Order: sequence, then structure tokens, then C-alpha cells
Amino acid sequence: MIINITRNNISNLNWEDFENLKGDEIEETAKQILSIMSLKEKARKMAGDQSMLHAIGMLIHYNKNPISAGRIEQLNIPGIQFTDGPRGIVLNNSTCFPVSMARGATWDIDLEERIGNAIGIEAKAQGANFFGGICINLLRHPAWGRAQETYGEDPHLLGEMGSALLKGVQRHIMACAKHYACNSVENTRFKINVDIDERVLREVYLPHFKKCVNNGVASIMSAYNRVNGKYCGHNEHLLRQILKEDWNFQGFLVTDFVFGIRNGLKAIKAGVDIEMPFKWKMHPKKIVKWVNQGKISEELINESVLRILKQEIRFAKKDNPELYNLDKIASEEHTELALEAARKSIVLLKNVGNLLPLKKESIKKIAVVGKLADMENIGDKGSSRLYPPYVITPLQGIKKALGDSIEVVYNEGKSLTKTKEITKDADIVVIVVGFTWKQEGENMTFAGGDRDTLSLSEDDENLILTLSESCDRCIVVLEGGSAIITERWRQNVPVIIMAWYPGIEGGTAIADIILGNINPSGKLPTVFPKSSEQLPFFDSSTLEIKYDYYHGYKLMDKRGFEPAFPFGYGLSYNTYEYKNLRINKSEIKKGEKIEISFDITNKGDLNGDEIVQLYIGYENSSVDRPKKELKGFTRVNLESQETKKVSLNLDSNDLAYYNTETKQWVVEQIKHIIYVGPSSRASDLLEASFQIS
Ligand code: BGC
Repeated sequence: MIINITRNNISNLNWEDFENLKGDEIEETAKQILSIMSLKEKARKMAGDQSMLHAIGMLIHYNKNPISAGRIEQLNIPGIQFTDGPRGIVLNNSTCFPVSMARGATWDIDLEERIGNAIGIEAKAQGANFFGGICINLLRHPAWGRAQETYGEDPHLLGEMGSALLKGVQRHIMACAKHYACNSVENTRFKINVDIDERVLREVYLPHFKKCVNNGVASIMSAYNRVNGKYCGHNEHLLRQILKEDWNFQGFLVTDFVFGIRNGLKAIKAGVDIEMPFKWKMHPKKIVKWVNQGKISEELINESVLRILKQEIRFAKKDNPELYNLDKIASEEHTELALEAARKSIVLLKNVGNLLPLKKESIKKIAVVGKLADMENIGDKGSSRLYPPYVITPLQGIKKALGDSIEVVYNEGKSLTKTKEITKDADIVVIVVGFTWKQEGENMTFAGGDRDTLSLSEDDENLILTLSESCDRCIVVLEGGSAIITERWRQNVPVIIMAWYPGIEGGTAIADIILGNINPSGKLPTVFPKSSEQLPFFDSSTLEIKYDYYHGYKLMDKRGFEPAFPFGYGLSYNTYEYKNLRINKSEIKKGEKIEISFDITNKGDLNGDEIVQLYIGYENSSVDRPKKELKGFTRVNLESQETKKVSLNLDSNDLAYYNTETKQWVVEQIKHIIYVGPSSRASDLLEASFQIS
């Protein structure tokens, strides 16, 4: 359906009728609308609709209602209605899922897409059409305050999880991937300059953004920081050259909020399409003036507006009151999904003597202690803050699961003497400790920001050390947004569980894991180091930082370090045996694919999910390359004693390095090593090889 759009008939247009338009029709319709717009109207598409006065309302309850941009009522153009994420929809009282880092630990792209679907429904039911919560910044160092908002340290994992989320969300509304690029220091985010070589940029910090672009993401948000001397929002190389030209991105680029750009003219030239959320540096009046003065061409404005209109048309949808209904907000269906995610995200780090799952018959009394044991701890209080209708704490979850059968006692753990007293005759002591919004998160004036320490607080550590002196059945449950250093107390306790910020149903999931209702399956999406010496340089006050090739498991491999818990690691109540690694060809040509298969057996007594991982190494490469890098993974469900054949496909194009001289991606004609197994730890992996000729 393409009608002839004029200024006279546009107000009668029903955007819902655009629902089924495809490729060329979308383009044609967008061009027609563009052609009837005045310069002033076009300029209005390129800024948030709020005046600076709205800032006050936003400070009271940020993003309680959608934030609008480019709404032009006289032309009946709806504009974008923004809501933030990523742990759910920040508007009103939506479902709070576990944070992205937790979801990274599920390695479950099907689940992530279903979460995206739920997020899209909750957003649209509340009047939003644009979700700003596909955060895929790479976790270079665990002290980064916003670690919780992303999926981990590996570009492949980030690209897969981010793409899954956007596919789910984009069944309903537009999604935006952020923060483009190299945004991984919080305290100095408005100023810091990241010095980075083109190869590192393309191979380490950008592939996940490219994957989201290939998967049709409607929008990208530029980051606050500078890259190679230029603010991301002024960075023509990042925005115009790489994103819009090299990757052929068809969507539109929005700035990060308020301080995303310093100079509107530079931003437009570099490739910014919308300044969020206020009319400020790219105030429509200024844009009109710049065009009239010849400082920018109207073509540049047309290009931006066409991009925005195309996406608005692509996502125009008929209303569906049954689907987009306020009853869906934190509905049972969605909170069940949050529970599934929390259950799958919990990582069992240590389980000496198979203390877990608890054998209820042998327990009369459980002590649940620690400052987080009865706290609603769902993540930071920055722009991704949610206000869910309820949160199940670990104490509530454990109590509910046990009913009256076992006595549960609780103490916050502030006084060591008191806590010792109440735990004295307990059969099991569950200690829930870790981080909160006060120590890590988006940088708010009095809280959040980058973490000061990677270890637990001294109080938390002393609590563990003291209680473990008299009880050899202590279960430590950790909460936080990324890696925690456990050296001071790790050997003193038999069980350690990483629960992240587990969302609305977190306490239920923690109880399910401890009691064995659920077999743990989460695996670390980032290395847990023994000390900060095993990590790249990080300084939260620095204004200049060099990002080089190595961090996380690749740095561990390069330097021969042994972490406390490796990337990809996580225990189950079963053991899984990997066998018979085979490949369908021992030699392939550039551009061809290869199939890697192996058998996996569940040697335990319980049904379980195992996350299998595929890494690739390069022999005799002409450039410096990591010992191995993640190139595939999948979750496999196995009954007790069941064996399954698992097949993973590898595309040789994904094995290229970026040649900075020729500006080409190069697949090398060398021997490639295949590693398959349950984690990145060398001793866990089966090995084979193939040649690219
Ligand atoms: C954050 C973004 C967020 C934006 C709007 C900024 O402070 O950096 O991640 O999307 O606010 O809420």
C-alpha cells in the first residue's frame, strides 16, 4: 500500500496501516513524508521534545513516563517514545528481570529473546515504542560501575545475547544498542579518552555492535566518553565511517542523554541523528540556522530524518489491546520468566563434598545471615532503575521453600557476637553478602560509580571468616554486578554461589538452587581473578586510558595466569563427560563453514543443562592473536546418564583478523585449533584442528 502523501491528507493517515509495509515500500513512504516536511519540521525530528525545564521532573522519578523525541503533531508523526532498561522497563512498576550480567551467565539466547519479547510487550502496553536497554559494552575490568548492565567480557557472547534481546523486543517496538563505543569506566565517563588501535577497536570492542546491526537493530546510542581524542558523539570515524558506511547501518543514531554531545554542528556532521532528551546542542532553531548559513547541507538533515522515519514506519503497528495490556505488567507469565532467568543465571562456584543440594532430612535448623539476606537487592539506582511491585529476598525465598519443616533463623550480621550466637546450633549457615547500588552502578552523586574494591567489604569478609571458624557447613551467596575477589576466605567455606542481582524472584531462585529443586547451570560470563594484578590497568579517576588487545580470559591465557574461577566456569550437581570430538572436514577453503561435533554424557543422577563452549586458536598466525577465543556455545539438556551428540557450526569468515594497513578482514591460511568443553580452562578442553587453505 503506497498512497500519495500530501500535507493535506497526512493528518488523516493512520500509521497503524503501515504495519505490513516492507523494504522498498517503507523507503518510498518515508521519502514521501520527508518531501512534504519543512526544514523546521525536519529539524524537530532531530531532538528530544522536552525543554530543559523537564529536567526537574525527571530528577523526581526518572523516566516514569516515556521520553518523547521528534513528535510532530501537525503532521501526525508519532516520534519516538523512549523507555530505558536493560533489566526490564523502567516505566512505572514493570517486571524486574535479573541484570544483564546475570543473564549473560545463562548463555541462553532463546531465553534472552523471550525476555526481550516480554520487555517489548510491557513497554508498548505503557505507551513506549523505543527501548534504550540493549547494553553491550564489553566488560574490560570488573570495577566498571555499570558492569551489571552488560553481558560480560567476551565479544561473541555479547553479540549473541544482545542480538537475542533485540530480536525479542523488536517484535513489538524499536530497540537501541548502546553505548557506542568503548564505554567501560564510569566515574570519568563524561571526559575520559580511550586511546585505542584500529585493530583492537574492530576485533575486541566493536564486533558485538556489528552483530546487532546485522540483526536489524533500529537504533544505536553514542557513548559519553572520547575515543582517540574525540567525543563519541562527535566521532566521524566511529559514527559515519564505521557504523553508517562500512556496516551499512540503516537505523538512526541517538546521543546518550544530556551530555552526549558538546557541539551540535560537529555531532550532525559526525553522524548523530537525534540529540536526547532535550532541545539543546542540536536545538531545531540552531539546525535551521546552520542550514540557512550554509554550515551544513539540507541533504545531511534529510539523510537523518529519512533514517528516523524509516524506522518509525517499520515499527508502526496496529494496536492489539489484548496483547498490549496493562495486565501484562509484572504478570505471572513475566515474573515466571524472571524466575527462569534467575535460576539459570546462578553460578555454583564451589561445592566441596557435595554439600549442596541440601539434604532436608538431615537438617533441623538453618541460619540465614548477612546484610543482603533480607534486602531487596536488584541493582543500581541509575537510569536502569526499576520499581517492581515486589522483590523476593533470599530469606523470604528460603523460608517459603522450607515451610514449617525446618527452623530458619535470621540475623543481619552486624554484630559478630550476636550472629555467632544465633548460628551456634544451626546445621547450615547461609551467608548472603556482596555489593549494592551504593558501591557500584551508574554514577549518581552520592552512590554508585566504579567499584573501589573488587573484594567484599571487610565486614562481609570478617563475617565469613568468623562463622566458618565454628561451622564447616557455611554456604556463601554472593550478590553483585561482576567479578568478586574471594582470596581471603575462599578456602574457608565449602560452598560459594554467585547470584548477581537476581531480580524480582531472586530469593525464590536462590532457595531453589540451595535445596536442589533446580540443578545449577549458570557459567561465568567473566573471569573471577585472584587479584587485580591479573587484570588490565584500571583507574576510575583517570582521564586517559589505553585499551589494548588483552583482558579477561585472553589476558589470563597470554600471561599464563590462573584465575580463581575461569571464564565460562560453573558447577552443576551432575558431572558431564565430553568425548569424540570430530570435524566434518580437516581442510576447508576461506569462506567455507565447518561442522564440529562431540558427544556429551550426563554422568549424574539429575536432569541438567550444560553450557558447552567452543574456542578457536590460531597456529603460526602472522599477527599476535589470543591463545583461544570463544566462537560458539549452546545449552544442552540431558537426562541422567543420557548421551547426546552436539553439533556446532563455525564460519571461517568469523576467524578473520583486521589488517590495519589494507583495512581488510583477513582469514589466514593456517592451522586452526578447536577447543571444546565446559569452560575456558585449558585442562577442561578437548582439542582438534583443521587447516584453512
Ligand atoms: C545512560 C544511558 C541511558 C540514558 C537514558 C544515561 O545516563 O548513560 O544508558 O540510556 O541515561 O536513560
